[in-house]
Amino acid sequence: RLDVVETFHGLFFPGHLHTQDSLQLALKFPFQDTDIIIVSYPKSGTTWMQEIVTLISSRGDPHVSRSVPNWARAPWLEHHYFAALLEASPTTPRVITTHLPHHLLGPTLQGSKAKVIYVSRNPKDVVVSFYHFHKIAKFLPEAGSFSEFLNRFLKVHYGCWFDHIEGWTRQKATMNNLYLLTLLPNHNNWNRSRRNVHDDEVNNCVKHCSFSSMKDNKMANYTLVTEEIMDHKKGFFMRKGKIGDWKNMFTEELNQYFNSVLESKMVDSTLEFTWD
Ligand code: PPS
Repeated sequence: RLDVVETFHGLFFPGHLHTQDSLQLALKFPFQDTDIIIVSYPKSGTTWMQEIVTLISSRGDPHVSRSVPNWARAPWLEHHYFAALLEASPTTPRVITTHLPHHLLGPTLQGSKAKVIYVSRNPKDVVVSFYHFHKIAKFLPEAGSFSEFLNRFLKVHYGCWFDHIEGWTRQKATMNNLYLLTLLPNHNNWNRSRRNVHDDEVNNCVKHCSFSSMKDNKMANYTLVTEEIMDHKKGFFMRKGKIGDWKNMFTEELNQYFNSVLESKMVDSTLEFTWD
């Protein structure tokens, strides 16, 4: 049933994807040191990172990213069909996706050398993207007006954005295998960070993970999801893919409110606000 909410350790999860068993199993999952784990708060660039990792693994060849849905090549750890999908996944090394906060998954990862990629995005863009997604995803509660949604943002499904990012980024000092990535304007690390990859392979990765390419790729754009789960008439999962779209939704008053919430949350935090 789509309207069921699973409550787990005080957080809400959509009931058609999660069960108490699947969430418990996620916390006991035996990671392998070769695993790549994409971790994010919803709407932070998860699908993009799944595409990037798939394309890098295949050295820019889009065959897998164009023939296998993203949820099957980089399955969600906490979903109830995870084990079956992982077993059938064609991706080597294994790529696993999760939205779980660090206070839940951290103990499971203790001592593991699996590579953890934490993807973050300006929370104002996250909240706008999540708001629009609530309108098309039938498994999420009614979005209401944007200002109502913004007020609820700290208590929405998957928990509070701030606690999520704070929990994971705080591990940077002790987890050598944790990579923190954030979506920033003009942020382009393709050329600086690559090793042993040819120019044409990099160019292919860049081309196939562009917004326009992914918007056209039914293995990444969620158009394969049935109408019972997503109302495709109300909007697209691949909506705008822009940095700074929040400026079209936030009034001055909402911006001040959001800034004051962030400031109060960040008083004791080491997190730097890098977005504008
Ligand atoms: S989810 O539901 O948590 O898996 O969503 P997630 O994939 O984290 O976030 C969805 C937003 O990411 C945008 N997106 C991209 N932007 C730019 N370039 C590329 N290639 C790309 N792929 C996905 C997607 O459009 C959603 O953002 P909004 O702002 O709603 O457009």
